[in-house]
This record gives sequence, structure tokens and C-alpha cells, in this order.
Amino acid sequence: MKKTAAGLVASFLLFGILTACSSGSQAASQPNVLDDTHWQEAADLYKQHCISCHAADMSGMVGPNLQHIGSSLDRTKISAVIGNGKGGMPAFHKILKQDEIEKLAEWLASLK
Ligand code: HEC
Repeated sequence: MKKTAAGLVASFLLFGILTACSSGSQAASQPNVLDDTHWQEAADLYKQHCISCHAADMSGMVGPNLQHIGSSLDRTKISAVIGNGKGGMPAFHKILKQDEIEKLAEWLASLK
């Protein structure tokens, strides 16, 4: 009886290790746009102000997926959404400076 319990514990442990490993490698295989040094400033603003609704991988949560937003909206439209807000998205014109909004819009527009 004792042996079986130990075996069970061991297999749970092994299972835990295996799942931890597989989720780790999956994350590593996805290129993270937020680590692109060319857009560091915009990515930092995103991490501060947008990540809570649009998710760490930009796939969306409360707000929509922004991973390829540049193929549906241009820079001008994106900066309008950020500045004025839209639906459930708050307006950022009082929170961010205009040049910060432009930087975010330029970066997002480049994500095709
Ligand atoms: C409180 C949650 C929230 C935050 C914070 C937020 N958004 Fe949004 N965002 C939304 C929602 C909800 C929508 C969808 C609005 C709609 O279409 O009605 C949206 C839409 C957008 C869109 C338009 C997407 C499309 O396909 O039309 C862009 C671009 C965008 N957000 C960028 C940003 C950026 C950049 C930031 C940070 C400065 C940000 N959002 C912060 C919730 C949020």
C-alpha cells in the first residue's frame, strides 16, 4: 500500500516536470514582438498601458488581437483609436503624450 502511494506521488511529480518542460519550450519557440529592440520604447509603453487588455503576446483578452493590426488599420487610424478610445477601450490622450501615442501607432502599424 505504501509503495503504491509513493509510486503515485512519483508519477505525479514526473507529470508535473514533463508539462512544465513542454510549456516552457512552447513559449520559447514563439518570437516575442515585445522584445524587438528597434521598437523598445513603444513595447515598453505597451507593457505599461495596453498589456492588461491586449495580452502579453498581443493575442487579445478584453481587447482584440493586435498581432497583425497593421494589415487592417493604418498608423493614423491606430493613433486615433489610442487617443480617443473606442467601445470598451479607454482614451489615452490624457494619459500618454502625443509623441508616445504616435510611437505606439507607428509600431503597431508595422505589425502586418
Ligand atoms: C481597458 C482595456 C483596454 C486597454 C487598457 C487598451 N485597450 Fe485597446 N482595445 C480595447 C477594446 C475593448 C477594444 C475594441 C474596441 C471596439 O472595437 O469596440 C480595443 C481596440 C484597440 C485597437 C483597435 C483594434 C481593431 O481591430 O479595431 C487598437 C489599435 C488598440 N486597442 C490599441 C491599444 C493600445 C496601443 C493600448 C495601450 C496604449 C490599448 N489598446 C489599451 C481595450 C483596451
